[in-house]
Amino acid sequence: MHRGKGMKFVGDSRVLAPSERKPNIPKDYSEYPGKTEAFWPNFLLKEWMVGAVFLVGFLSLTVANPAPLERIADPTDTGYIPLPDWYFLFLYQLLKYSYASGPYTVVGAMVIPGIAFGGLLLAPFIDRGPERRPIKRPVATGSMLLALVAMVFLTWQAVATHDWKKAEEQGKIVAKVNINKADEGYQVFKNQGCINCHGENLQGGAGAPTLINTGLKAEEIAKIAKNGKGKMPAGIFKGNDEQLKKLTTFIEGLNKK
Ligand code: HEC
Repeated sequence: MHRGKGMKFVGDSRVLAPSERKPNIPKDYSEYPGKTEAFWPNFLLKEWMVGAVFLVGFLSLTVANPAPLERIADPTDTGYIPLPDWYFLFLYQLLKYSYASGPYTVVGAMVIPGIAFGGLLLAPFIDRGPERRPIKRPVATGSMLLALVAMVFLTWQAVATHDWKKAEEQGKIVAKVNINKADEGYQVFKNQGCINCHGENLQGGAGAPTLINTGLKAEEIAKIAKNGKGKMPAGIFKGNDEQLKKLTTFIEGLNKK
């Protein structure tokens, strides 16, 4: 329609005269078969079905792979090695390199990610060429590929170099057991120095495991107390047999009934 043509002036305004107005009916799409459909119910039903399939799939995934829960966070535990979720592993890994950590943490935490994400943010303003084919835009395509390769590599490195066994150990949920600190066995535990490594609540720490629910019998504990085990040095216990019995039955008593 040519602008202005077929327009009749009504008073001072430029409203179409009633005879020129089009009736208010929706456009007829029958000339595009298969290209369009009614919103209700056809389109909505399809949307709903896709949503339902996605939801069921997602549900099955969470049931099959429950989110790993760890023990309650303890800010005083400096030995705990935290790990971000997988999508931040590449940034985490970056902070491990000597040129991006220690005195250069700012480089790893701000400068490098800042350049990368800042560049992405400014890309529409910097690169205003009309060309759309990736092959014709070597700088943009190259930077994106470089970033992609770097992210995949760093993520892989983070996974490969993480101490997963230690991570599982440090995050273990230890059943809360009420320690009777008035028990004579606990007094021996304290006086013999076991407490220095195994902790005030026998929770472990600094490389020593918890003594709660070890599953060990009193005799086995006695042997370890005197002879040591693995990284635990021998000869720590220097008391008499009576004290040893009190100590070992106390620790044995922490086993799950
Ligand atoms: C110098 C630190 C240190 C002291 C002190 C110490 N332990 Fe240990 N203890 C360890 C370490 C480390 C281990 C883990 C040994 C291993 O398996 O490599 C351990 C392991 C144990 C275990 C075996 C736990 C298990 O689940 O297998 C027992 C039981 C034990 N200690 C009892 C004692 C008793 C009782 C005392 C006091 C007489 C004591 N410890 C003092 C460091 C210590």
